Amino acid sequence: MKAAEVRSKFIEYFKSKGHTHVESSSLIPASDPTLLFTNSGMVQFKNVFTGSEKRPYTRATTHQKSVRAGGKHNDLDNVGHTSRHHTFFEMLGNFSFGDYFKKEAIHYAWDLLTNVYKIPETKLYVTIHINDDEAFKIWNKQEKVPAEKISRFDKDNFWQMADTGPCGPCSEIFYDHGPQPNCPDPKNCKVGCSCDRFVEIWNLVFMQFNRDDKGIDHPLPKPSVDTGSGLERLSAVMQGVASNYDTDLFTDLFKVMSNVSGKKYSKGHNDETSIAMRVMADHARASAFLIADGVIPSNEGRGYVLRRIMRRGIRYGKKLTEKSLILPTVKEVISKMSDVYPELKKRQDFILSTVKTEEDKFLETLEHGTNLLTSEIKKLKTKEIPGEIVF
Ligand code: ALA
Repeated sequence: MKAAEVRSKFIEYFKSKGHTHVESSSLIPASDPTLLFTNSGMVQFKNVFTGSEKRPYTRATTHQKSVRAGGKHNDLDNVGHTSRHHTFFEMLGNFSFGDYFKKEAIHYAWDLLTNVYKIPETKLYVTIHINDDEAFKIWNKQEKVPAEKISRFDKDNFWQMADTGPCGPCSEIFYDHGPQPNCPDPKNCKVGCSCDRFVEIWNLVFMQFNRDDKGIDHPLPKPSVDTGSGLERLSAVMQGVASNYDTDLFTDLFKVMSNVSGKKYSKGHNDETSIAMRVMADHARASAFLIADGVIPSNEGRGYVLRRIMRRGIRYGKKLTEKSLILPTVKEVISKMSDVYPELKKRQDFILSTVKTEEDKFLETLEHGTNLLTSEIKKLKTKEIPGEIVF
């Protein structure tokens, strides 16, 4: 099943259960100083959870553009080296604002996964918060998930958006991709292992509290639900591949990079070319979407994070070819994703000129720095380069 269908089936399912389809919000959270970027689907509903904002619906569903780079949820350094980390990704979600709670949230998720996507139950595992006997009962009695497939964790099963704000215990659903070559302990591999075998595909948060700046949790006006399922991970499951980067969301980007560089992407391999292509694919997506939402590379705040993402991408791109790789890759992102996110097409010229300017500036800096370093090394009488030159 193509990613586009995974996305639309999710939204259709929840619409059929009385949820309003709400458009993805911007990657720049509206007037929220606690967050650098929209990092999940619940961000645009934060004030609805706390009760300070009212909407004409109590059930919503979204496919939300999300960025996790900088701040509490930051995956930047892992990107490229693993099969499932991204700075930019899409989060599928359903939300209840004081409407349904654990029973329905668990039922909807299990029903959609096993009856609509038809993922075999044998491949699925569940985690709950260490104290959440109610969730255990629902999984075990209502959905008939065997007790031995339900594990309990403490911190890993409590979700918060940032240091303050709505939070609560959560229950996660994992997919078993089968034994992985990178497993540190194959005999004892289970949910929670650091290898790529058990991948979390859906997080159901039972929103109950609003955490203040002293770390005190205040009960929300009504228990609510916030869920998040990474489109990239779910698509990998639906396409029978172990890595998000082997789904149709990414393969066209690798084709463009191969055409430009003459190098080949090898599925699931951690060779220099494949790592660099994954970094570039991810960072080109993040760059296109962030610039479309108005972030400009700079030396502070959001702009600085974008600059780091872009420069990391360009640096890895240089391992593949002397030609520009980021520009054609960003172009492909725009053409591939504009039907779902029309803002990309609308701001295409601005996105491309911003990428070009940043690339030129960075290459100039690199060249200047490399020349400086080379000439300083030539002059060296000891093995030390003065700190101020390095700086
Ligand atoms: N907000 C929750 C998450 O991002 C669903 O995992």
